[in-house]
Amino acid sequence: MERTFLMIKPDGVQRGLIGEIVKRFENKGMKLIAAKLIQPTLEQAKNHYIEHEGKPFFAEIVDFISSAPVFAMVWEGQDAITLARNLIGKTKAVDAMPGTIRGDFAARNPFNLIHGSDGPDSAQREIANFFEPHEFTSYDKDIQPWI
Ligand code: TYD
Ligand code: MG
Repeated sequence: MERTFLMIKPDGVQRGLIGEIVKRFENKGMKLIAAKLIQPTLEQAKNHYIEHEGKPFFAEIVDFISSAPVFAMVWEGQDAITLARNLIGKTKAVDAMPGTIRGDFAARNPFNLIHGSDGPDSAQREIANFFEPHEFTSYDKDIQPWI
């Protein structure tokens, strides 16, 4: 079982796409175990994008995700990280295939609507940056064996 950190960025929240985006992960059969609407601090935003520190777009993406509320989530499931990345689509809107979240709704960077962890280590770090242990739920979904 894997956990991934997904975050609907400020453009997704502003455009009223929370429900549309959450629906896609529910449809896939993944399990939501924590979620909240928060405005990241500058500190949290920098920490979130630490791997991109020094790149030309670092300041822009840090400013962007700390500029307004985001919908932060933790999803669980077998291969949750890869499944989510596939549903999200390619980073650049022009490369993202129709049918993916970015392919269907995003037009240009950095406004590509959603973040998804790219591996187990980044997932762990990103989750810890936004959630405390007491914020996680633990429950079973009876439908799970059928998915
Ligand atoms: P990255 O981690 O490479 O993409 P992803 O979100 O698909 O994991 O980059 C983080 C964000 O930075 C990306 O969602 C959009 C933005 N970005 C740019 O604005 N310009 C760029 O050239 C790149 C690579 C990313
Ligand atoms: Mg990334």
